[in-house]
Amino acid sequence: MLLLRDLAQVATPAGRHAPLRSTDLGAVDVIEDAYILCDGEAIVDVGRMRDLGSLGGDVRELSCAGMCALPGLVDCHTHPAFGGDRVEEFSRRAAGASYEELHAAGGGILSTVRATRAAGEAGLRAAVDRHVSWMRRHGTTTFEGKSGYGLDRDTELASLRAVRDAGGAPTWLGAHAVPPEFDGDADAYLDFALAEVLPEAARVAEAADVFLERGAFDAEQARRYLTACAAAGLALRLHGDQFTEQGAIPLAVELGARSVDHLEATGDTGIRALAGSEVVGVLLPASALFLDRPMPPARSLVDAGAAIALATDFNPGSAFTESLPLVCSLAATQLKLAPAEALAAVTVNAAHVLRRADRVGRLAAGYCADLVLLDAPDWRYLAYHLGGADVAETIVGGEPLR
Ligand code: NIG
Ligand code: FE
Repeated sequence: MLLLRDLAQVATPAGRHAPLRSTDLGAVDVIEDAYILCDGEAIVDVGRMRDLGSLGGDVRELSCAGMCALPGLVDCHTHPAFGGDRVEEFSRRAAGASYEELHAAGGGILSTVRATRAAGEAGLRAAVDRHVSWMRRHGTTTFEGKSGYGLDRDTELASLRAVRDAGGAPTWLGAHAVPPEFDGDADAYLDFALAEVLPEAARVAEAADVFLERGAFDAEQARRYLTACAAAGLALRLHGDQFTEQGAIPLAVELGARSVDHLEATGDTGIRALAGSEVVGVLLPASALFLDRPMPPARSLVDAGAAIALATDFNPGSAFTESLPLVCSLAATQLKLAPAEALAAVTVNAAHVLRRADRVGRLAAGYCADLVLLDAPDWRYLAYHLGGADVAETIVGGEPLR
């Protein structure tokens, strides 16, 4: 057993249901002067220190005076399976080149495809493990990880296995870009991917994802890809409305996708359609910041009743950050979300996107012993301390990492 004692605060999204919407999104239960008791991989009790009875048996005690406990953070959108980096491109963008121009010129995603293919399976596993260790340091205990930088059979499957074996939820992003050997023929590439990669990808991945965007895949191609993936048993996700609206939200609603992610370009009609649906809008403000793009309409989405989650979009090109606390700071300063709304969006609602909300995303008896300790007197430092290093400990399945 593990006892976390003398916590200044334990903060957890209120209630038991998921996803949280509207005013429920901002409801957080806070217990002051608290303890959390874990037995193996599960939380067995959360309460006030004054109500802590005597514990028999073998109990390891961790004094957490001056610290706050939050549910382990859930990053429901990351691209950790890549070789190389894009620091050269980053420097060129800093001097004025645009992301879409670099992509059109064969740089961007395709330059990472070259480096990822060259890494080999061992190199790719090492890269994913390194990226996951960065996430853990920032309090992430559950993560989704996409393929999409291999775009050939072996590298896509190696990417999915590396994510799975690092403890993540693998998503097959088979439709991320058209690789060079298909010479811009997106339909011919999809024929190949669906015939040659999907059958094995469906055995490893939980979900499939598509980049529905000008210069990537159009709505008809996305429909064909996603329909085949659903038939193979995969849940559906979409990258949509990042630069332009190309019908991602209506398609996501029609196909019963779990989420549509990005939404920087979403207008009022899309907001209403998402709000009237079960599809979660996954907002990626670090990506908007990194590319100097408009922020997604988070406040309007929440006020309209849409279910939202927040994620890093960790990747080498458009969001080189693994920090969900930073994302929470951006949510509070750029997206007009309260810290409580940001907390629910990186815990219970993100867990819902990954269909794990019955066991992660809250601190209560019966949930996984996945939690973050902040070296801070108030849990809202999660969003308040911009770029701060407040994560003192990340506990996964009852095991402290440090
Ligand atoms: O989510 N939008 C497409 N894919 C990634 C970025 C990929 C890259 O630039 O390498 C994203 O932003
Ligand atoms: Fe992404």
